[in-house]
Amino acid sequence: MNAPVRLKVDNLSKRYGGLVAVKNVSLELRAGEILGLIGPNGSGKSTVMKLMMGIEPCSGGTITLDGADITRWPSHRVARAGVGIVFQHSRPLHRQTVLENIKLALLPDSLIRLFADRDVDTRARAIADRVGLSAVVNRHPSTLPFADLRRMEMAKAIARNPQVVLVDEPFAGLTMSEVAAFSDLIRGFRDEGRAVLLVDHNVKSVAALVDRVFAMYLGERIAEGTADEVMRNPTVRRVYLGGEITASNKRNEAAAAKPPLLKVDDVSVFYGKAQALDKVGIHVGQGEFVSIVGLNGAGKTTLFNAMSGLVPYSGKIEFDGRNLNELTAGGIARFGLVQCPESRELFGDMSVEENLDLGGQHLTPARRHEQLDWLLELFPILRERRTQASRTLSGGEQQMLAIARALMMDPKLLILDEPTLGLAPVILEQLGRALERLREKSPVTILLGEQNVTFALPHADRVYVLEHARIVWEGDPVRFAREMGTGYL
Ligand SMILES: Nc1ncnc2c1ncn2[C@@H]1O[C@H](COP(=O)(O)OP(=O)(O)OP(=O)(O)O)[C@@H](O)[C@H]1O
Ligand SMILES: [Mg+2]
Repeated sequence: MNAPVRLKVDNLSKRYGGLVAVKNVSLELRAGEILGLIGPNGSGKSTVMKLMMGIEPCSGGTITLDGADITRWPSHRVARAGVGIVFQHSRPLHRQTVLENIKLALLPDSLIRLFADRDVDTRARAIADRVGLSAVVNRHPSTLPFADLRRMEMAKAIARNPQVVLVDEPFAGLTMSEVAAFSDLIRGFRDEGRAVLLVDHNVKSVAALVDRVFAMYLGERIAEGTADEVMRNPTVRRVYLGGEITASNKRNEAAAAKPPLLKVDDVSVFYGKAQALDKVGIHVGQGEFVSIVGLNGAGKTTLFNAMSGLVPYSGKIEFDGRNLNELTAGGIARFGLVQCPESRELFGDMSVEENLDLGGQHLTPARRHEQLDWLLELFPILRERRTQASRTLSGGEQQMLAIARALMMDPKLLILDEPTLGLAPVILEQLGRALERLREKSPVTILLGEQNVTFALPHADRVYVLEHARIVWEGDPVRFAREMGTGYL
């Protein structure tokens, strides 16, 4: 490839105290190419992007942009020189509308003109249109569904017209058709001659999009080449891809027949005039593993939040013989219905261990110890990160911590809302095995909300499909593949 090198890093390193997050990484980004950056959770991918962007100072190595040394530049200067980043987590200004957020990105240095310039308005609308936000430009970010928030991050990046674009996990939490739309956008960047660095755990979509792949593990390069070469690399397979997720062969059919642990009848929820749930009815038997499959915005999180006592609803939710309407959100959790929310809700300034301790507060010291030991064995990385503030964990590490904290509460019913978000394939495999082991050694019942059916199906005894606020299908995973497969698989 002969296109000019835009961004180049040589021997880049980053230390956080005793931890080496990035170690001697050298790579090049050329105009008109997409480089995929893959690796397990915590391998240093987001850190590499932050170093390139000048958000964090590097501990060693050099960064050049079009031949100029930018190693020590502050990030606003790097941005002005033509490097843009789409963060792993959305960071909108909540008081501003979507359009205003985009305008601010267009005019980072002259906020005063924000409401005057017609040209800016036109350009902002064109960008909104390009990323598929035109219908919601006048709304506030807090009212947007997840995928739209990600679109807005893209729009903000595009607004600055960067020649080098760093995109961190654009596909996480998106449905297949949304991933396709985002892939087109990123392909568009390449076609316009921009250099793109793409991080994502959706391996198939990354492979389909990129020109080359760079794989990291423990901060170092482990492989580099075409997607095909890298995915076949034995080290990459071992530390990142893992094997196929295999179905448990013994389904717990008896569980469905027992008196249900959870019974949801005719539950409806409104947000203002919008109906988020429409007379939803489901039941979960003692010891059963039930998956609720549904696309973004279908109502899964609302359903879980109703169960957890976090949103008002009409209808009835019974759990272990109690009407949950009589309990507060805290009471519901203590009574054994525990949700691991999509939004994680960790205490950022507290350490990994303190977050876990909070989860285990109501257990006896002996039980707490036992549970903690088991969870740290389940997620060894959390043991290594025990004293680290949870805010500084990598995306996937935070997800593991959220799941571990929910398990720390020793729930009767564990609700997992999109647990696969941001997890490396090999961790998904581990999580799947852990859930199966958990069911073998304890009477826990699991309710899983997912749009990632490759994870939701293999472990489930039974599946519900939630579409546009309604349950539209119920059955076993084998039938699901036959009857509902298209559109989900
Ligand atoms: N401020 C910090 N202090 C201590 N450790 C940190 C800090 N920031 C990041 N780390 C650690 O550096 C490692 C690399 O983190 P990074 O966010 O780059 O991982 P990643 O490859 O993007 O992972 P993921 O796929 O989970 O997003 C992680 O183990 C993380 O815990
Ligand atoms: Mg990351």
